Amino acid sequence: MQFVEANGAKIPAIGLGTWELRGRTCARLVEQALRLGYRHIDTAQIYENEREVGDGLRASKVKRDEIFVTTKVWTTHFAPNDLERSTRESLTKLRLTEVDLLLLHWPNPQVPLAETLGALAHVRKLGMARHIGVSNFTVALIEEAVAACPEPLACDQVEYHPYLDQTKVREACARQGMAVVAYSPIAKGRIKNDQTLARIGQGHGKSAAQVCLRWLIQQNVSAIPRTSRIERLSENIDIFDFVLSDEEMIEISGMANAKGRLTDFGFAPKWD
Ligand SMILES: NC(=O)c1ccc[n+]([C@@H]2O[C@H](COP(=O)([O-])OP(=O)(O)OC[C@H]3O[C@@H](n4cnc5c(N)ncnc54)[C@H](OP(=O)(O)O)[C@@H]3O)[C@@H](O)[C@H]2O)c1
Repeated sequence: MQFVEANGAKIPAIGLGTWELRGRTCARLVEQALRLGYRHIDTAQIYENEREVGDGLRASKVKRDEIFVTTKVWTTHFAPNDLERSTRESLTKLRLTEVDLLLLHWPNPQVPLAETLGALAHVRKLGMARHIGVSNFTVALIEEAVAACPEPLACDQVEYHPYLDQTKVREACARQGMAVVAYSPIAKGRIKNDQTLARIGQGHGKSAAQVCLRWLIQQNVSAIPRTSRIERLSENIDIFDFVLSDEEMIEISGMANAKGRLTDFGFAPKWD
């Protein structure tokens, strides 16, 4: 496994995303992923599957200190007392004493950012999170957060795949020593039928999804693809035995377009 290092955190380059995975399916996939060599699991309070993620962690029998677990605090719990209470709830559901990474799921302008970050840093000091970070933060918000946070931020988790240019956010993270963690890294499955990625993959004996994930990790980005199918778990982690050439990397980056963003909400910040 390759790692992305950021402000003291060592984030496994590939993780399992668990959004929309529920119940026994979720627990079984987490368990199976860990048995196949995954060492990074991404969940969130709002996914309502932290209990099942915890079940999968334990069923795998992989040692706790070998696994990197991320969860996220939902925006309605950003007032300082709420954030601490919400983190305790997440830990109880996961049946863990600490997570490896705790993120603010989206920016929430209704609560002063400095207050929320103070609470996030406090939760870290209490030992409930080894590292802290943000998600869906723009360049301006990253800079505001770094200036306001008493503890280092390990990452910004953002949508990132070949159809969406994230150069500005990547550069801002690099300036702050933060990692980029790519969500929807295979564009919610849309890359499956991509002709360019499939053609490049043919030259390496790899699928379009594997080329896409390789393109991300070759930029020192961590990626958290989600699948509900056991056979795809192996496919999505089998990307450490080939290298994309500079020309291939440039060609894939050239696929970004103005309509590439897939996740947008009324409460989203003004994107870069
Ligand atoms: N921070 C945030 O705001 C945020 C937002 C969105 C997502 N996330 C996180 O990021 C994770 C991943 O993002 P995502 O779930 O939106 O999308 P994604 O991982 O880009 O794509 C998931 C879709 O791709 C399909 N798929 C998986 N592996 C494949 C393969 N090898 N070939 C073809 N299709 C494949 C899956 O279908 P099958 O199940 O049929 O395989 C599923 O429909 C989430 O689960 C969540 O943990 C975070």
